Amino acid sequence: MIKVIFVCLGNICRSPMAEAVFQNLVSEAGLAGEIEVDSAGVADWHSGEAADPRALAVLRQHAIPYAGRSRQVQPEDLRHFDYVIAMDKQNVADLRRLDHRGVLAGKLFRFLDFAPAGLPQDVPDPYYDDRFEYVYELVDTASRGLLEHLRREHRL
Ligand code: 4NP
Repeated sequence: MIKVIFVCLGNICRSPMAEAVFQNLVSEAGLAGEIEVDSAGVADWHSGEAADPRALAVLRQHAIPYAGRSRQVQPEDLRHFDYVIAMDKQNVADLRRLDHRGVLAGKLFRFLDFAPAGLPQDVPDPYYDDRFEYVYELVDTASRGLLEHLRREHRL
């Protein structure tokens, strides 16, 4: 099993969208038995809550289901997952700060590393500016790139 976790700040906007979109692609590709997908937040502000209604609305418009609840990233996650995929450089810095044992070496990425050149490096936080459809498009593009990468890397 290849284990992938998406991480943002609150785990109610960007990383749940990434989890839902990527899981949907993985399932469509018939790879749900090969790739485990999860998400978490650096902060615990929204722990236990459903995703932001605006994120759920955009996912629904694209016919993608999501029922996950927010949770904070745990030290055990850093060990368990093979790909820890941050939405922006602040998430990367926060994850590095949590990595007391150095287990993230070689498995911490920024999501848009997997997108074609020319796009921004960070998935912007839509919580205050409402750009959920734009975030969806970035997440969809990066998800396709990530799946290609995993297929190549793991011969799936
Ligand atoms: P996310 O967005 O990191 O994409 O889930 C945010 C969600 C909540 C807050 C900030 C960003 N907040 O300040 O509560």
